[in-house]
Amino acid sequence: MMSSTITLCFLLLSSGVLHVYGSCVGRCNDPLDNTKPCQCNSHCVQYNDCCDDYHDVCGQGSLSSLADTLWNLDVNRLVADTDYVINYQGQVNENNKYDNAPLPFFTSLNENKVDSITSYVQFKSLLDNYESTIGQAEDLTSQEWGEIDAFLDTVMASGVMQEAFKYLHENGHVPNDAAQFREKLKEMWFNLYPRSSGGVIESSGFEHVLVGEHRSTVSGFHNWLQFFLQEDAGRLDYQGFVKTGEPRIVGSQFDWVGYWKSLGSFFLGTSPEFDMSLYSVCAIMHPNAVCSFHMNGSDVRIQTWDIGHKTGLQIASAYPIL
Ligand SMILES: *[C@@H]1O[C@H](CO)[C@@H](O)[C@H](O)[C@H]1NC(C)=O
Repeated sequence: MMSSTITLCFLLLSSGVLHVYGSCVGRCNDPLDNTKPCQCNSHCVQYNDCCDDYHDVCGQGSLSSLADTLWNLDVNRLVADTDYVINYQGQVNENNKYDNAPLPFFTSLNENKVDSITSYVQFKSLLDNYESTIGQAEDLTSQEWGEIDAFLDTVMASGVMQEAFKYLHENGHVPNDAAQFREKLKEMWFNLYPRSSGGVIESSGFEHVLVGEHRSTVSGFHNWLQFFLQEDAGRLDYQGFVKTGEPRIVGSQFDWVGYWKSLGSFFLGTSPEFDMSLYSVCAIMHPNAVCSFHMNGSDVRIQTWDIGHKTGLQIASAYPIL
């Protein structure tokens, strides 16, 4: 059952119709439809023919309602066209390296606003702590661990993470113990690990997802502010957008310090505490899977991966699928 489901998902992903077949995204409370493999109205519980994501997408206290709450609680999100201006320029094909964007992706950013918000300032202080080459061991100093702890305290105290914690607890995924939850987040996002079994201690969820790293190509790198900072420093060359989605998701192609990213997707303008809250919920509830929900009126799908060769949940990657 499991392996056939996975095979099916890969088939559907490659044909690009996963969001229609076998999913409740966009179908909540629709009447019985026998042409569909599963159903999305309240009778499906009784008839045992609900789609696998029915409870996440349509249920009371569903992931969609949490996602909307997180979206609305993200008070530190920057506002498009006011706080920042972007320039998509040409579209590019994920499979071809071709620069279709002579100008930067970010036309402007209100950096004074960024630097007036604690979580962004603390987030920025972490970005130079990592060795971006995969295969080169990380060596975090006690001062750098102090920066991590300060940032994590801010993230823990944020409205978005408090709401995510409450939701995870109410749905039986974590105990109602804030200190323990903070430790879990630290383990998931910050404790270092080898990316392959037996390798050097070269990576962490935070480094991979929010900072980015590289081997022969760019690996991870799913944060808009890091994208801005690297582009602004002349270290990143935006080459065009592959796809876009709502709310404000971009899949971009770029070169970073001489390494290529064929498709890097991220939310635009969201706070780091928002990205970490949403990805944490998905990773805890649906590790190594796609987490589907509605957010701000749009269908959103998040992929998360766990570093499987280590005990416990540690984020190998997390990003929006376009
Ligand atoms: C959220 O949804 C509202 C209403 O549809 C829309 O006006 C707004 O632009 C959306 N926000 C983002 C950031 O996409």
